[in-house]
Amino acid sequence: MSTSTQTVHVHTTSRDYDVLVGNNLLAQTGALVRKAGAFDAAFVVSDTNVAPLYLDRVRTSLEAAGFATQSAVVEAGERHKNLATFGTILEGMARAGLTRDSVVIALGGGVVGDMAGFAAASYMRGIQVIQVPTTLLSMVDSSVGGKTAIDLSCGKNLVGAFLQPTLVIADVSCLMTLEHEVFIDGLGEIVKHGVLADEELFDQLTHSPLRQDSDPSYLVHVVAHNVSIKRDVVGADEQEHGVRQTLNLGHTIGHAIEAASGYTLGHGHCVAAGLCCVSRAAEKLGWAPAGMSARIDACVTAQGLPTTTDISTGELFAQATHDKKRHGSGVNLVVPTGIGSVEMRHVSLDELAQIIELS
Ligand SMILES: NC(=O)c1ccc[n+]([C@@H]2O[C@H](COP(=O)([O-])OP(=O)(O)OC[C@H]3O[C@@H](n4cnc5c(N)ncnc54)[C@H](O)[C@@H]3O)[C@@H](O)[C@H]2O)c1
Ligand SMILES: [Zn+2]
Repeated sequence: MSTSTQTVHVHTTSRDYDVLVGNNLLAQTGALVRKAGAFDAAFVVSDTNVAPLYLDRVRTSLEAAGFATQSAVVEAGERHKNLATFGTILEGMARAGLTRDSVVIALGGGVVGDMAGFAAASYMRGIQVIQVPTTLLSMVDSSVGGKTAIDLSCGKNLVGAFLQPTLVIADVSCLMTLEHEVFIDGLGEIVKHGVLADEELFDQLTHSPLRQDSDPSYLVHVVAHNVSIKRDVVGADEQEHGVRQTLNLGHTIGHAIEAASGYTLGHGHCVAAGLCCVSRAAEKLGWAPAGMSARIDACVTAQGLPTTTDISTGELFAQATHDKKRHGSGVNLVVPTGIGSVEMRHVSLDELAQIIELS
């Protein structure tokens, strides 16, 4: 049975674009890019894990559609999301003779998407980028919203730009080749989206957890649905002044767990645990209805993700307040107030300590 492609249309102040979510879309890349714009050349950026699996398919399709195509393959992994790799990509683009009418195609997970997007935003003061996300996280999170970045030695995502993509092509068949831990890492953000905005999706995930061998039409449905949730939040606040901060649900404690683990735990695993922690505390403080946190724990467990951490509360507090202490002003915390609703609360550092104790 063939799986139909779903289209999520995204409107932003700088550009309108489609996110196509389907099964076996990569072979149609050329035709889809052709429809998206009259580009004089395509430059595919990928990494050393993704390129051997999918680069030929994408290049063949682009060339069949008449695009002069060149590519850059960078070392896989977050530790290569740096200035050196960024420079290599830009030099490759210049050597390939890209013009302002060329397009960059980011073929890979969030690391490739962020770096290729930032390279596109910088080259000749900005050319277009098409995102072809190949991890679950990049499909439901990083490829949508227009944020691009690289890391500096002092911290993650410290340099970047906003560049909305011209098109996003999410082919769920790529999820089959992910390592299991990388696949489920994306589920952390998906459960977060459910708690943030969609009780029906949340319940569906609890009863039918997403798996790599789930029916492709279920994968397409869940990915497209998540894209539309992120689209709605980002659309209300493109430059991250207000509502977009609600996407940080689970991230205050999640980031603290991630940092305390020395970044050995996946981001989505940490967000899942952080989400459960803040939910338990919110319930104990009477900010959320009884029973909510048990439901969140059950959904997170069903996806194979952790609901707790064995990192000490003191260490979590130290990490969560790492750069806040000097300002002493507390933090903006996203608090779940039910399944499908959240509120922002400004909490003092003392209150944050209490929340971590209660979690
Ligand atoms: N721009 C944003 O809004 C935003 C949002 C969230 C996260 N991010 C960024 O995204 C990055 C994390 O993204 P990620 O989790 O996709 O990590 P990633 O890009 O490092 O991919 C994870 C691993 O899977 C491999 N891989 C990718 N696709 C594959 C496939 N189909 N088959 C086999 N292997 C594959 C990669 O080579 C890598 O080893 C971080 O740098 C984070 O800062 C950005
Ligand atoms: Zn996140």
